[in-house]
Amino acid sequence: MDICVAKDKHKKGIMRLYRQFNDDRIESGVGDSDYQVLDGEMPWAKTLHDEDCMTLILTEKDFVLGFVTLRLSSFNPFKNVDKLAEVDLMVIEKKLRKRGFGTQLFKRASLHLRTYAVTHILINVAVSNKPALNFWKKQRFKTLSSTHFERADGEEEETVYMVRKI
Ligand SMILES: CC(C)(COP(=O)(O)OP(=O)(O)OC[C@H]1O[C@@H](n2cnc3c(N)ncnc32)[C@H](O)[C@@H]1OP(=O)(O)O)[C@@H](O)C(=O)NCCC(=O)NCCS
Repeated sequence: MDICVAKDKHKKGIMRLYRQFNDDRIESGVGDSDYQVLDGEMPWAKTLHDEDCMTLILTEKDFVLGFVTLRLSSFNPFKNVDKLAEVDLMVIEKKLRKRGFGTQLFKRASLHLRTYAVTHILINVAVSNKPALNFWKKQRFKTLSSTHFERADGEEEETVYMVRKI
């Protein structure tokens, strides 16, 4: 397995995993994740090379098996936080979950963000997404606050903001 910054040629592979994630949400009744789909093609089509947004991928022979999209935050409401980044979304291929790949990818993402002088990472996760909630707790994220919002399908969803110093 290799971890690197995504290039244009990896877009389809990233989209495959995004669809897998979204289909699972719909199937389990949690609803469409409602991530903005740009260009009618994929969520990261425009932002793959944005200077404030980066996607790291986990690959095997150039086949994308995981990705994490990170965003340098322009807004930082925290007094004791020098520079903040957010995890937009992280997905590991379904068949490879619970084998430590997510942890590996996140560790690499943290190192990558440190080269941008990032001191803290923020994530927002749905309370109903127990694997993800446990995953971020295991990565030593601490809950800041919880919030409710109305999803595109009209259902109410509770999410928590969690933060970690890196
Ligand atoms: C969340 C996700 C990225 C974790 O990736 P992963 O490769 O399975 O994670 P790891 O194997 O490194 O797991 C690390 C820890 O996370 C927790 N965890 C991961 N999957 C879990 C599950 N299904 N149930 C409970 N805890 C889980 C465990 O504490 C685990 O440690 P352990 O193996 O010692 O018990 C993966 O489940 C995924 O892609 N989910 C779908 C997309 C998603 O919901 N993303 C999160 C929104 S940003």
